[in-house]
Amino acid sequence: MTRKTPGLDDAYALKSPEDSRKLYADWAASYDTEFAGAMDYLLPAAVAEAFAAEGGEGPVLDVGAGTGLAGLRLASLGVGVIDGVDISAEMLLKASEKRVYRRLFAGDVTGRLDAEDGTYRGILSSGTFTLGHVGPEAIDELLRVAAQGAIFVLSINAAHYEAAGFAAKFRALEGRIAGLSLPQVPIYGPRADPAHRADRAFLATFRKA
Ligand SMILES: C[S@@+](CC[C@H](N)C(=O)[O-])C[C@H]1O[C@@H](n2cnc3c(N)ncnc32)[C@H](O)[C@@H]1O
Repeated sequence: MTRKTPGLDDAYALKSPEDSRKLYADWAASYDTEFAGAMDYLLPAAVAEAFAAEGGEGPVLDVGAGTGLAGLRLASLGVGVIDGVDISAEMLLKASEKRVYRRLFAGDVTGRLDAEDGTYRGILSSGTFTLGHVGPEAIDELLRVAAQGAIFVLSINAAHYEAAGFAAKFRALEGRIAGLSLPQVPIYGPRADPAHRADRAFLATFRKA
């Protein structure tokens, strides 16, 4: 029997970190061509460009690095050193082929990451704070591994932002973060499947206070 290639609808229907691990193990090989290419996926470059525009510097952690598309754009903008974490070993293997990361490590961002307190001067994430994936609870762990003053640019799917309680989380983080702004960007370009062409994300941009 031929197995169907995973796609966006499967990703949005995930319910747990274990579901993510399974789906992305199957998706890693085709992700760059059959998803990112076919869907005109703009988000990783947009997040990297926003991080650079904020004056972001390494060491930076790419959270839910996947196949490394955001890291690739960061490197082309001259931002380094870049580390990446992801729950899927198969996605990380694809990211390693981009040859722009210093360290790639497996981890569940809803738990504790294998990194010391205050390690990173930047934290960036594309496509991971989305439906069926990671919610606002992960921001505490990211603040732990960030240095004081670290720049954050986290994409948050606009539909997920409403449903998952990000507004309340940012209110609760008052005093621990500074300068929050929430510009919106398109996730996909004009060549995307019409069902998702209008999908948008917030780029939650702030500093660790
Ligand atoms: C839609 S992909 C985005 C990948 C890449 N950042 C991009 O924009 O192409 C979401 C990524 O989040 C990872 N992920 C999902 N849940 C996670 C978790 N709890 N901890 C760490 N990574 C997770 C998946 O394995 C996948 O690589």
